[in-house]
Amino acid sequence: MHDFKYKNNELYAEEVPVSKIAEAVGTPVYIYSHNTLLSHFIAYRDAFDGQPHTICFALKANSNIAVLKLLANNGCGADVVSGGELHLALKAGIPPHKIVYAGVGKTELEIVQALKAGILMFNIESSDEMLAISEIAARMKKKAPIALRVNPDIDPETHPYISTGLKESKFGIPIEEALEHYRLAKKHPSLRILGIHKHIGSQITTIRPFVDALKKVILLAKTLRSHGIPIDYIDMGGGLGIPYRNEHPPHPSELSRAILPLMRGGNFNLILEPGRSIAGNAGILVTKALYLKKHPQKEFVIIDGGMNDLIRPSLYNAYHNVLPVKKNNRKKVISDLVGPICESGDFLAKNRELNRVNRGDLLAVMSAGAYGFTMSSNYNSRPRIAEVLVKGREFFVIRDRETYKDLTRGSRIPEFLKK
Ligand code: LLP
Repeated sequence: MHDFKYKNNELYAEEVPVSKIAEAVGTPVYIYSHNTLLSHFIAYRDAFDGQPHTICFALKANSNIAVLKLLANNGCGADVVSGGELHLALKAGIPPHKIVYAGVGKTELEIVQALKAGILMFNIESSDEMLAISEIAARMKKKAPIALRVNPDIDPETHPYISTGLKESKFGIPIEEALEHYRLAKKHPSLRILGIHKHIGSQITTIRPFVDALKKVILLAKTLRSHGIPIDYIDMGGGLGIPYRNEHPPHPSELSRAILPLMRGGNFNLILEPGRSIAGNAGILVTKALYLKKHPQKEFVIIDGGMNDLIRPSLYNAYHNVLPVKKNNRKKVISDLVGPICESGDFLAKNRELNRVNRGDLLAVMSAGAYGFTMSSNYNSRPRIAEVLVKGREFFVIRDRETYKDLTRGSRIPEFLKK
């Protein structure tokens, strides 16, 4: 479900013509729909109604402060993986008791900040990290709330770069070693064990891996409890996929129907960490065709958006649907949509059939609301692009397009180079 639809052959974001935003803000530009974001969050909230739970939006998918505020205002929590994300979550008004902190490489400073903030729990990824958190908490005369991230060795059947639950992955603690790690944790007076965390991967389009992984985790929870280790929270991570092309990922209500029976009677508090399934289809990247180019073997549409704006196609060979902002009846042509970056891997779509694109035409790259702007960069010294939030008939710039001034912000020329 999303709110980017054609009306009279023209693409709208909710009630606003996309071309109107492009004209006002320029291109390339990310456009998000308030209604889609909200309804995706509500779908989760409703699906898990009745089960004590917290939905902790994974900020890595989209960390624009306005998007976070929208979610915070509706009761959403946060899954953060850096001091920067913690800062943004708190700034958006997400209460600390709804913030979980994951990531294999938390620094001392980040741990201190999270302890000061009073987050719900750290999702610990190694015994070294456990020791570090314990020592820092002791120094601060605090008890650090923790869960251990276990790796249940389940194949999420997704792209290898975004699959995290297999044995060979760097994430988490092998589930067979979990008991001994929890025993170790129990010996640290400055750690308070709260639960178990797992996250097996992203863009998962079937229920089975979630069920298989959760079964293993619940079994572990029961074993731990029988050893006197308190497990109140089960954090099942994120990972639910979205339709980019013709996938049919389960709806949050199907997920809840499959997993809630497993939780029954366990007296667990459930945490979910969705990112993509809330923000992915709530955003598009709008870009303009600059030039057309014909090689004997191939046609190219050179657009003003590149891999620095949306890296998913280059990095994962990810498919994003591309739609003309204004429909037309021109002849169908197969071409590559390539950006202005000086890299052969700079493309947003390959061998794509579209009605012939003319110079100046606007194109919408769909499903770009998650891992779009957050993974963007200044490569080729391109200012990062603007972000816009649409609500009904109105639209709001929620991040200004960077300027050239931003390209030198913080950099300095040492005296010896000045003349
Ligand atoms: N929780 C943890 C611990 C995670 O590592 C992630 C994603 C999530 C939650 C959210 O997963 P989601 O619901 O969005 O699938 N850049 C890649 C995706 C990387 C995902 C990393 N971890 C992409 O563009 O596909």
